[in-house]
Amino acid sequence: MSHQRVAIVTGAARGIGEAIARRLSRDGLAVAVIDLDENSAVSAAELINAEGGRAIGLAADVAVEATVEKAVAEIVERVGAPTVLVNNAGILRDNLLFKMSTTEWDSVIDVHLRGAFLMTRAVQTHMVEARFGRIVNLSSSSALGNRGQANYAAAKAGLQGFTKTLALELGPFGITANAIAPGFIATAMTEATAERIGTTFEELKAKGAASIPVRRVGEPDDVAAAASFFIREEASFISGQVLYVAGGPLN
Ligand code: NAI
Repeated sequence: MSHQRVAIVTGAARGIGEAIARRLSRDGLAVAVIDLDENSAVSAAELINAEGGRAIGLAADVAVEATVEKAVAEIVERVGAPTVLVNNAGILRDNLLFKMSTTEWDSVIDVHLRGAFLMTRAVQTHMVEARFGRIVNLSSSSALGNRGQANYAAAKAGLQGFTKTLALELGPFGITANAIAPGFIATAMTEATAERIGTTFEELKAKGAASIPVRRVGEPDDVAAAASFFIREEASFISGQVLYVAGGPLN
């Protein structure tokens, strides 16, 4: 390939982010895996390289401005200017509102919203220069409201507004921005939820599947398929959209 695009996927050491990183590599992109822990990020990148891809892994907390700037500069240096960004890093700090601590509120807002803002601001300059860019933000079905997730629902709904505004501001430069809002996806995140509410992961998945029209819970690859679609060159007229990947309609 004469010109290989460079993608950054945050929170890509495991789960949905890892599946997206591998999928984008199979789609022919070079991939930078960002996660909190350097060893896990590098291992995820090595798996991609073992499959014939071109990936690097680096540690960065997306909520920390200086770290984000440094990570993006390092990616430019080591792989090239990024023109695809997937803001996937995320955490849960579930609690009912009356029990929710200010720290639980702030940390969720910081990782999802501040993190996506800092990453996007750092990367957009390279997209504008290239007159091409694809931004994919991970929202959630929880954006529609979910008991015990006032912080997370606010962050994920916020990401939808963020996405639409990016589409407006960056569209003139050949940049699209879209959001994927997954329903129940089987990952370490949902496994931790099962533990928190005192049930087994198998039970939680079975219960989830029963209420989902396609009668199964989602897998990380289900989300990766949607990301792969949004980042294509031919998806250049699709922007500012929120795609629910949830095995059925949500409202
Ligand atoms: P996960 O917990 O398995 O993976 C998240 C990754 O993000 C981890 O590797 C973690 O270390 C990393 N991360 C957390 N904070 C970070 C930070 N400050 N800087 C850099 N990396 C950080 O979660 P999962 O399930 O793969 O979720 C990925 C995204 O999809 C999240 O944004 C999540 O909110 C969203 N999502 C997940 C759903 C699910 O059912 N699993 C449903 C809807 C949305």
